[in-house]
Amino acid sequence: MKQTSGYSATQIGLHWIVAVLVAGQYIFKDSIASTWEAYTQGQGTIFSPLVFAHVAGGLLILAFVLWRLVLRLTRGVPSAPENEPAPLKTLSHIAHWGFYAVLVAMSVTGGMMWFGDIAAAAQAHNVLKIVLLAMIALHVLAVPFHKIVLKNNVMQRMIRPGA
Ligand code: HEM
Ligand code: HEM
Repeated sequence: MKQTSGYSATQIGLHWIVAVLVAGQYIFKDSIASTWEAYTQGQGTIFSPLVFAHVAGGLLILAFVLWRLVLRLTRGVPSAPENEPAPLKTLSHIAHWGFYAVLVAMSVTGGMMWFGDIAAAAQAHNVLKIVLLAMIALHVLAVPFHKIVLKNNVMQRMIRPGA
């Protein structure tokens, strides 16, 4: 894996666009959930802009996550802060790769249930939505933990581009 001194402006931009899109998937989930319920009860599907937004948003997330993966592999990412204990370095490494895996899996299972009507994909989508939420909570809590306990400013790395 290539190491850089900081995330590029594109990596930072994509991180925040994906974060906003993912938040939208949760905040505006009621339309897709009720449309899906009506469909599974044989009542057909009613078009609504929020249903379209969930499907399009999910596919956009997939595209941006794949773009981020390519950048991670070609340009690289900065190494963990110096003073981060080894077990935490491993944990954040797993968590970051886990995000890529879960976000791809969310989009793929969403696509499989929506376009392919596959029941197992619907179950997976519903389990993964909880896993992803837990990961986001841990990820967000890591920011003040870094600032207060480890006294490094990891947040700046996702705001100010580095070389
Ligand atoms: C990373 C991308 C995605 C995220 C974070 C996400 C998140 C969610 C969440 C939070 C729900 C709410 C379920 C509930 O509580 O009732 C949901 C439901 C649903 N999503 Fe996604 N989704 C994503 C991508 C997609 C895609 C690409 C599609 C379709 C092409 C899709 C189709 C659906 C459907 C049909 C439901 C209703 C399922 C149900 O309520 O059981 N999702 N999604
Ligand atoms: C759905 C929401 C989010 C997802 C999926 C997500 C995902 C990720 C991923 C995958 C990385 C690692 C980047 C890489 O090395 O390739 C990362 C880094 C980072 N994220 Fe998030 N993130 C989200 C929301 C947030 C939020 C809300 C904050 C701040 C409050 C945040 C702060 C950071 C910071 C500071 C880093 C840099 C960590 C470092 O330099 O090692 N993220 N995020």
